[in-house]
Amino acid sequence: MEHTPERPLRVAILISGRGSNMQALVRAIAAERLPVQVCTVLSNRADAAGLDWARAQGLPAESLSHRDYDSRDAFDAALLARLDALAPDVILLAGFMRVLGSDFVRHFDGRIINIHPSLLPAFPGLHTHQQALAQGVQWHGCTVHFVTPVLDHGPIIAQGAIPVLGGDTPDDLAARLLPVEHQIYVQVLRWLAQGRVSLYDDGRVEVSDAPHRAWAGATIFHLQDCHEHE
Ligand code: GRF
Repeated sequence: MEHTPERPLRVAILISGRGSNMQALVRAIAAERLPVQVCTVLSNRADAAGLDWARAQGLPAESLSHRDYDSRDAFDAALLARLDALAPDVILLAGFMRVLGSDFVRHFDGRIINIHPSLLPAFPGLHTHQQALAQGVQWHGCTVHFVTPVLDHGPIIAQGAIPVLGGDTPDDLAARLLPVEHQIYVQVLRWLAQGRVSLYDDGRVEVSDAPHRAWAGATIFHLQDCHEHE
């Protein structure tokens, strides 16, 4: 369904820290007048810098600390209840550093989206930039994908790639990748607002009328980064 200002896409954005991906999404919503309504920016850490930024924009921002719950399941249940009360169309994980259990994921089946800093299915989990360097890959990247109960393995909506250059450190890769993360997450949000993203039972993702592709995502090559190092 294509969303309109009268029927905006309701999104909940979940963060744990600085929230630069969340900021990119919020900036794009404002700058491009996307028909998207942020119903909450929610962090599992009260001290997340992104919460202050969101509040300064006048957005609803709140914390739900996992430390206040005895178990992972209890936290998931509280988060589920909170999000159900807000009735988001989609839940965007943007640097949300809690693994969500299968009950939670199934409850919001096909409505949770995550950004992961690797070209999935390579390098799920943490320390993706170290993993990429250790494997000697020549291309690294990021993936926006639907969340399934298997960590960092869901159907891929969009990917962005950067070359790995001689002498790169994990921090170099992280810094060069971050703007690409922002680009592809914003692109996916546009597609969602336009009602162009379909997820099929076999795990295929189709983005209708996306230029240069029948389905799946975008690859953005940042070749200017290569020239800088020549
Ligand atoms: C990003 O690299 C994201 O891909 C990963 O955690 C980092 C969060 O950064 N999941 P930010 O909080 O969005 O700035």
